[in-house]
Amino acid sequence: MTLATTFLFFVIHFACIRAGNSSETFVKLECKEEFHGVHGQQSLLQCNVKAVENVTILTVTWKNMKADTLLLEYHKDTSILTPGFKFAEPSWNKNNMNVSLLLTNTKMADKGLYECMVRTDSGDDKATTSLRVTAKYKTPTMSSIPETNIKENTDVTIFCNSTGGHQKGLIWWFDQIGTNWTRSAELLAKETDDGLYSLSSKFTVLKATSSYTNYTCKVLTVNGAEEGMASFVIQFAPQDLGSKGANFDSVSTTNWLAPVVVIGSLITGLLAALLIFKRRSVQRARRQSTFPLMSGHQTDTRHDRDVEAEGLNSEDQHTSL
Ligand SMILES: *[C@@H]1O[C@H](CO)[C@@H](O)[C@H](O)[C@H]1NC(C)=O
Ligand SMILES: *[C@@H]1O[C@H](CO)[C@@H](O)[C@H](O)[C@H]1NC(C)=O
Ligand SMILES: *[C@@H]1O[C@H](CO)[C@@H](O)[C@H](O)[C@H]1NC(C)=O
Ligand SMILES: *[C@@H]1O[C@H](CO)[C@@H](O)[C@H](O)[C@H]1NC(C)=O
Ligand SMILES: *[C@@H]1O[C@H](CO)[C@@H](O)[C@H](O)[C@H]1NC(C)=O
Ligand SMILES: *[C@@H]1O[C@H](CO)[C@@H](O)[C@H](O)[C@H]1NC(C)=O
Repeated sequence: MTLATTFLFFVIHFACIRAGNSSETFVKLECKEEFHGVHGQQSLLQCNVKAVENVTILTVTWKNMKADTLLLEYHKDTSILTPGFKFAEPSWNKNNMNVSLLLTNTKMADKGLYECMVRTDSGDDKATTSLRVTAKYKTPTMSSIPETNIKENTDVTIFCNSTGGHQKGLIWWFDQIGTNWTRSAELLAKETDDGLYSLSSKFTVLKATSSYTNYTCKVLTVNGAEEGMASFVIQFAPQDLGSKGANFDSVSTTNWLAPVVVIGSLITGLLAALLIFKRRSVQRARRQSTFPLMSGHQTDTRHDRDVEAEGLNSEDQHTSL
């Protein structure tokens, strides 16, 4: 090996070390290990570029590792975004070191590992972070079979349903004095298309009596944390039929009374209108009969006698002058 080649070798080697060193030390991408998101809400995956001096970002990519999809790419001053994913900073630009990713509407399928990669004019770095997604059960809805008019000492099946949890949950049952009926109930859990669970618990009250009408169900996570509760009152058939009948009577009275009043006042009004019309036409007929006598005079609505009086007055004025 000649001296020249040895020198060249060292120069190249040294240059490589420098380049490698600079790209590793000047720019560092820092992300927290795990983030927590809630189904149906926004989630933030925070990553920041740490640099010794001012750097300009050339490229940013955000990838979902599990689905192996590119969610966001910034390159050559343009961003390519997948709907539902964007920079967390509203007006992000290449001088903004906060390259956090925002999920605008988190879904169960979004949970998993993410990778962020950054290239700057002073070096590159990449980092991974993971997203945990949880979802809560909604307030349960309750119904019964039969629904209403339930007779004493018949069996009544009550349902307590809830959806939206991210894990199979539990449903507990209590009556109005707090007796735990959970062991007599049947729970059905189903995973829905969106990766969430729906629960339906069925509890049959044997020989239900109207002294125990109020039943409560509680929805809990598999760990026993309460997420929602609801109460249901069994709709027994009314027992006092007499008072109910009287009630019906008064209702029907007002039902026929209203139209009668309306029609009655309409007829009265029509009659009054007819009377007025008739009286007017009689007057008009009388006035028309006086027309020949008043020929030469202008037609007037004033009474004939007034016109005569006026004529006399003017005559009086003439004589006095
Ligand atoms: C590598 O980086 C370190 C820390 O910044 C620095 O002290 C060192 O001089 C660099 N080495 C080279 C060969 O540039
Ligand atoms: C970094 O950039 C900002 C704004 O562009 C400037 O105010 C600041 O002086 C710069 N700092 C360094 C160390 O160059
Ligand atoms: C990054 O930006 C997001 C959204 O504006 C903000 O919530 C977060 O606190 C920022 N992170 C840092 C370290 O500034
Ligand atoms: C609860 O679920 C059961 C069975 O899936 C259904 O028959 C019932 O109507 C549901 N009740 C309510 C209030 O959604
Ligand atoms: C109700 O009963 C269920 C099933 O036996 C039990 O797991 C639960 O701890 C009980 N809850 C209360 C509050 O007693
Ligand atoms: C039924 O019982 C629950 C729990 O004890 C109570 O909160 C609710 O008000 C009751 N409902 C009725 C209609 O009495």
